[in-house]
Amino acid sequence: MTSAPATHAPSRPAAPAPETSPAVTVEKIGGRVGAVIGGVRLGGDLPAETLAAVRAAILAHKVVFFRGQHHLDETAHEAFARLLGTPVAHPTVPSRDGRYSLGIDSGSDLGGRANQWHTDVTFVPAYPAFSILRAVTIPPYGGDTLWANTATAYENLPAPLRTLAETLRAVHSNEYDYVGARPGASEEQLAQFQQVFLSTRFTTEHPVVRVHPETGERTLVLGNFVQKIQGLSGQDSRRLVELFQAHVERPENTVRWHWATGDVAIWDNRATQHYGVDDSDDHDRALRRVTIDGEVPVGVDGRSSQLLTPREVPEPAFGVASGASGATGAADAA
Ligand SMILES: [Fe+2]
Repeated sequence: MTSAPATHAPSRPAAPAPETSPAVTVEKIGGRVGAVIGGVRLGGDLPAETLAAVRAAILAHKVVFFRGQHHLDETAHEAFARLLGTPVAHPTVPSRDGRYSLGIDSGSDLGGRANQWHTDVTFVPAYPAFSILRAVTIPPYGGDTLWANTATAYENLPAPLRTLAETLRAVHSNEYDYVGARPGASEEQLAQFQQVFLSTRFTTEHPVVRVHPETGERTLVLGNFVQKIQGLSGQDSRRLVELFQAHVERPENTVRWHWATGDVAIWDNRATQHYGVDDSDDHDRALRRVTIDGEVPVGVDGRSSQLLTPREVPEPAFGVASGASGATGAADAA
């Protein structure tokens, strides 16, 4: 028997054209860190399933990149940020015009030349969970950003070093070696750093290994705000920090992004460090960053991070200060 005549075949209407945006695509660009997301137009009106896919990709790949988001302005950037959590103000650097978005500009030495490996704002306890960085003005060459995966850095440590790291706690401060990082800094730049970035001097003790509150992964908490390892001499402390930090910075553990105008990068600030390469000479480079409130880190032993100084994170000029949530020294003593 052959099949029924075509005239008796059930007629199926053509599938309606999809009304939603194209499917979200996630393409890895490194073995351990980084993916490019396609099919997403970022904004405050992102469908729930798209947001869930983006959030899952951030947690899996640690930093994700979106191209061609030219439609975003300050308002839309912040509106999208609110879908990921609560935007927070920088603890000391005032934002412009009552905005949460912070300028990362070559003209400002407070963030524009972040050419040291760091995790954003680790000098306060509940440092940001996510940072969302939008490229506004990009130089004709240079100005790339690198990210490193601090979860794989931990995982790939030899077992004795993992065990050692889990027992350590480190003091982070915004009073880092600014002059060492900016050997050519002018008197004016140094004065600006001291007046603005150091308007409040923070010190916070974090576990060197924290347990990620969403993925359960263990991550190394280091970077350029580390002053010392508690209980060790300055020399031993420096050697140990260098030892662990070298594993974070291994090229295989990093991804490098060459920016174009309209690009957006979102990273899990609890599982990464990043480094802004200062190699675009005097060309302008301007990006805008919105950070999302984080949680007080918890170590493998269950001990939380602890704000050492001041007694509490002061109120910013507006909004919620980064790191302020549940973060007084007394509350965190464990
Ligand atoms: Fe940064």
